[in-house]
Amino acid sequence: MAKVFAIANQKGGVGKTTTCINLAASLVATKRRVLLIDLDPQGNATMGSGVDKHALEHSIYDVLVGDCNLLEAMQFSEHGGYQLLPANRDLTAAEVSLLNVQMKESRLRDALAPIRENYDFILIDCPPALSMLTINALVAADGVIIPMQCEYYALEGLSDLVNSIQRIGKLLNPSLKIEGLLRTMYDPRISLTNDVSAQLKQHFPDTLYQTVIPRNVRLAEAPSFGMPALVYDKQSRGAIAYLALAGELVRRQRAAPRPATA
Ligand SMILES: Nc1ncnc2c1ncn2[C@@H]1O[C@H](COP(=O)(O)OP(=O)(O)OP(=O)(O)O)[C@@H](O)[C@H]1O
Ligand SMILES: [Mg+2]
Repeated sequence: MAKVFAIANQKGGVGKTTTCINLAASLVATKRRVLLIDLDPQGNATMGSGVDKHALEHSIYDVLVGDCNLLEAMQFSEHGGYQLLPANRDLTAAEVSLLNVQMKESRLRDALAPIRENYDFILIDCPPALSMLTINALVAADGVIIPMQCEYYALEGLSDLVNSIQRIGKLLNPSLKIEGLLRTMYDPRISLTNDVSAQLKQHFPDTLYQTVIPRNVRLAEAPSFGMPALVYDKQSRGAIAYLALAGELVRRQRAAPRPATA
């Protein structure tokens, strides 16, 4: 049965999509069966997986509003080696369309239920907002992976996010966990980075991933070729870091279960 992880942070540009694409490809490299769901109308995970968001016959939007079956919308990322549920701007309409349907918070969870056993991991790329789309991701997920940059305001944003996840968990998904906090675009030459990192270690000793993702230009270049860094430049520090993250994530799954947030 697949573990479902929402990759979420309401702050924009912290590395959610980069983490989804590269973690998905790294888990595939360790022989896991992976589905990546693009739940962001920006469609960045779709393009970064080598699928043209402008040429979609069906997208995750159609699945959420019940216009098509999940399998009809599914595509294969050739370079990534994972299955993809793609998204594009149509998804902005989902916020409005979902208001009129029943069980609007659990549309994604219900859609995933019949195919969960076909995968080891399902990763959901969330938009940078705590919208109905993100709520659908949090209801469908077993855990939340929070990518963050070690900046001054990061800790403040983090406590807001953790509170929101706990609130949503309590109401709609009591078994939801904070799966892990991931330091992205990490540059140890910046002293603020080290300060914030030390505080994260102190406050979140169990949830913080030991693996850090360095600032690495290969990670920024790869999506324009529709590739994960692992294929674009497998020797790059970025590719190696995401492989290490996949290893750490898999080891955590084998370790003792963690308490729910709610
Ligand atoms: N470790 C990294 N090193 C260098 N550049 C990175 C790294 N991680 C992400 N980037 C770049 O930073 C930008 C933001 O990353 P990304 O799109 O993954 O963030 P996001 O959280 O998904 O953004 P949004 O909130 O808009 O969805 C992108 O241009 C990406 O290529
Ligand atoms: Mg993104």
